Amino acid sequence: DAPPLVDPFGRTIRYLRVSVTDRCDFRCVYCMAEEMTFLPKREVLSLEELERLCSAFVRHGVEKLRITGGEPLVRRGVMTFFEAMGRHLGTGALRELTLTTNGSQLSRFAGDLARVGVRRVNVSLDTLDPARFRRLTRRGDLGQVLDGIAAARAAGLRVKINAVALKGDTEEEMFDLLAWCAREGHDLTFIEVMPMGDIGNEMRLDQFWSLRDLRARLAGRFTLTDLTERTGGPARYVRLEETGQKVGFITPLSHNFCESCNRVRLTCTGQLHTCLGQEGASDLRGVLREGADDAALDEAIRAAIRLKPKGHDFDYSRGVGGRVSRHMSHTGG
Ligand code: GTP
Ligand code: 5AD
Ligand code: SF4
Repeated sequence: DAPPLVDPFGRTIRYLRVSVTDRCDFRCVYCMAEEMTFLPKREVLSLEELERLCSAFVRHGVEKLRITGGEPLVRRGVMTFFEAMGRHLGTGALRELTLTTNGSQLSRFAGDLARVGVRRVNVSLDTLDPARFRRLTRRGDLGQVLDGIAAARAAGLRVKINAVALKGDTEEEMFDLLAWCAREGHDLTFIEVMPMGDIGNEMRLDQFWSLRDLRARLAGRFTLTDLTERTGGPARYVRLEETGQKVGFITPLSHNFCESCNRVRLTCTGQLHTCLGQEGASDLRGVLREGADDAALDEAIRAAIRLKPKGHDFDYSRGVGGRVSRHMSHTGG
């Protein structure tokens, strides 16, 4: 096995997020533009190329693989890829194979996902109100997503709901979402909206709602106990003593967590982004398509990790200087 990937700040990379497609059947307002131009096929890694790259990361000590998009389950043949990655679970090299999905295709795929070794899924769901859901996703159907979540549970998968904290919207609905998650037995994580994509000059400042505030409101109604357990991602968790449920907070803006970052991101065009909140990336597709052998590929990966920056510079107060120009859907969060 290759030595683990350690960046210049001493952080070991154990978590790879892989965006398998730039496409999505939704157009969430904070993630995509209304009209998106999608990549031509030749730009996109084949399933074989994806497998080779991901396996190289596993060889380098990556233990957690999260498949993202766009919407990962709209990629044709994606289950073949999941199946291949599932084999690394079998050898013990990989500890977790999972995905982040909008839930629209879960009814179809939940059983297959469970079969290849997925144990839990993160489903993006900001609201339980059909009209608001339609406004925020622009074209999603809430009923379909709720059916997908039910299918995931029926297949034995744990479900974590991801809700982006949006001023006005989430503010109104946070307790309803909490109660629903408590009833259904889903964990819930709130995420601060990050300034990414071509969002003009107004930024997302009008939408931004600090999780400090959300947490304070929660503390007004529940007894919160901080939990030390982590899931390998950026979320910090609390338990609500009155309901016993677990709530996570992802706070890139109000409380930076870059110091303990263990992740890098591979896009469907083979670009390795070593930070979600910075512009740079390394072109691993180029290396692959030049016919690199494993040694050359390993060296390209190590070289890319040497470029991992200390952290993001997201900052709403700095206008365009504090944002990243690519859309969130490009790296899958
Ligand atoms: P768990 O395995 O359940 O901990 O999942 P996760 O939080 O690692 O993955 P998920 O896809 O659910 O991510 C939730 C949100 O966290 C997404 O919006 C990501 O963009 C965000 N996120 C994940 N890693 C980072 C990071 O390194 N920096 C920033 N700024 N945001 C991140
Ligand atoms: N800021 C924060 N989270 C975002 N997501 C998409 N766009 C943004 C953004 N601008 C979330 C999705 C999904 C996860 C992968 O990223 O809701 O849960
Ligand atoms: Fe699609 Fe997810 Fe982006 Fe929404 S957040 S547009 S569901 S990739």
